[in-house]
Amino acid sequence: MSAGLFVVFEGGDGVGKSTQLRMLADALGTAGRKVVVTREPGGTALGVELRQAIMHGDHVDPRAEALLYAADRAHHVATVVRPALAAGAVVVQDRYVDSSIVYQGGARGLGGEVERISRWATDGLLPDLTVVLDMEPDPERMSRDLDRVERETAAHAEMIRQGFLGLAARDPERYAIVDAAREPGQVFSDVFKATRVAMTRAKERAS
Ligand code: TYD
Repeated sequence: MSAGLFVVFEGGDGVGKSTQLRMLADALGTAGRKVVVTREPGGTALGVELRQAIMHGDHVDPRAEALLYAADRAHHVATVVRPALAAGAVVVQDRYVDSSIVYQGGARGLGGEVERISRWATDGLLPDLTVVLDMEPDPERMSRDLDRVERETAAHAEMIRQGFLGLAARDPERYAIVDAAREPGQVFSDVFKATRVAMTRAKERAS
């Protein structure tokens, strides 16, 4: 049986994660691999409820929010991701621990505790590959005169972007930074290459 492979897509909002995720799942399926496509938050029935709680209209306290993401993740990893990997599937996932580190830890200012909570929630499960889809936040709009809200939104998007790039720099073997400001086909070519490298590495580890 082929070794399972855990591939995660990360990046700011609107960088094309869903398109790339779908393209990768299709290509691997065509190549005869069993593929499980999933997401956080909301990859399980409980996760869908937690996602609704997180996206709840009113203000959610940042620590409560971080714990809701962690609860979603713990349940998802235990009931979906680990069983799929054990069965030899490729798990292709939209967002994981790094999203919490960047959004809750960085942007919301909760720092390193968020990473510790997420590692505990997942019992230390690391992706074989994290694809960071990288794109300068809306370069056209950045060149225009922005009002205060637009400036804050742009600064936030850039902080998120730098957060993911910083995590990738920490562990280059397990990450691929892919320029997402191109045609989906070109982006996918890099995504697929990185996946094949990760697959070879995982096979070597398993043998
Ligand atoms: P997602 O469903 O991936 O939507 P998008 O298309 O905007 O990427 O993620 C929803 C939001 O949840 C996104 O803004 C990032 C946020 N998020 C966190 O803040 N922390 C987390 O741990 C995760 C998984 C997501």
